Amino acid sequence: MQSSRTPMFSKHMRYRYIYRYTCVLFIVFSSLWIIFHCNNNCQRILSNDESFGTYEIPNIVHFITGQGDASESILDQFGPRLGYRRLERASGEFHLINYLVLLSARQQIKPKQIYLHYSFEPTGYWWLKAKQDRQLNLTLVKIPPITSIYNHPLHHHAHRSDIARLEILDKYGGIYLDLDVLVLKSFSKLLSNSYQVEAIFAWEDKQYNTICNAIIIAPIHSKFLRRIYQSYQSFNSSCWACHSVFLTGQLANIYQNEVYVLPSKAFFTPSWSHIGELYLYNKYNFKNNYACHLWNSYIGKEFLHNLTINSILKPTRMTTFIRMIHHAVGKEKLNSIAREFS
Ligand SMILES: *[C@@H]1O[C@H](CO)[C@@H](O)[C@H](O)[C@H]1NC(C)=O
Ligand SMILES: *[C@@H]1O[C@H](CO)[C@@H](O)[C@H](O)[C@H]1NC(C)=O
Ligand SMILES: *[C@@H]1O[C@H](CO)[C@@H](O)[C@H](O)[C@H]1NC(C)=O
Repeated sequence: MQSSRTPMFSKHMRYRYIYRYTCVLFIVFSSLWIIFHCNNNCQRILSNDESFGTYEIPNIVHFITGQGDASESILDQFGPRLGYRRLERASGEFHLINYLVLLSARQQIKPKQIYLHYSFEPTGYWWLKAKQDRQLNLTLVKIPPITSIYNHPLHHHAHRSDIARLEILDKYGGIYLDLDVLVLKSFSKLLSNSYQVEAIFAWEDKQYNTICNAIIIAPIHSKFLRRIYQSYQSFNSSCWACHSVFLTGQLANIYQNEVYVLPSKAFFTPSWSHIGELYLYNKYNFKNNYACHLWNSYIGKEFLHNLTINSILKPTRMTTFIRMIHHAVGKEKLNSIAREFS
């Protein structure tokens, strides 16, 4: 009996082991696949965790640069458009105006820390100056490239940075500023968050219900910013401002008690539709501006990328823009930049 049963039994055992090891291997490999596959995507989707509860806004400032773009041909096909113009790729060069914007944040906001988040390191003289400036004291943070959201590819650096700012503010809280936002006075009144809201913005144009995301102030884990993030499930990559401007305005009207929306003069006047007020004339009074958005994506080529330190210190014609730089950065600092440059 025994001798006839043993081979049968061991054959059966062998199959059981093969089956068991196959299962174990399958589980191991599929976990590894999930871990590696998700490294870039799945884990980035903010959780639905409802444990919010702080309205405290840390006095730290975040900037984003070096997000990279898809190829010219992909942008031609799917990239965002501003009217009939396709939005260009970023050059990778850090401009003088970007350095001045960082200095204005240091000078006027006096934050505990200034973070500059990037995926691809920028280039140029002003990038080296910004990195080495001990008074500016940047904290550089390298982040993985953000190339999709909820399975929608993100082709343009501006759209990648729209997502990055939401993820960064979710993680740290604080003040997010675009690199073309010149800071003109202290944000301390806003940081006190006396209305106990989940986010502070300003109307770009109240009449059209638009809120520009160039400046966002928020506590950590903001419920309202998570609503914006989740709205990217319906992202349309060829529309320049659908989510960043129009949808933010709509959500602010729906969830009115979660946000405080400042009048546009807090950040967004002179508006891009009155660009002369900023770059041609010298009449605009900026006493109500906490900051001023310089509209780089509209007029960067004409008025920002050709800026020189000499044209700021000895302008052929004084403009609101130059007057703002003098105020925001200070003559003393501008002179010391000029001395090092020559
Ligand atoms: C620079 O910032 C870091 C981090 O916030 C801080 O610990 C350090 O004291 C600052 N250094 C100077 C010179 O202000
Ligand atoms: C996406 O945006 C473009 C440009 O604004 C528009 O023409 C197109 O109809 C939009 N697509 C969808 C599905 O809404
Ligand atoms: C930059 O170019 C614009 C228009 O092309 C011009 O009005 C402006 O004076 C230039 N600025 C400098 C500093 O050269």
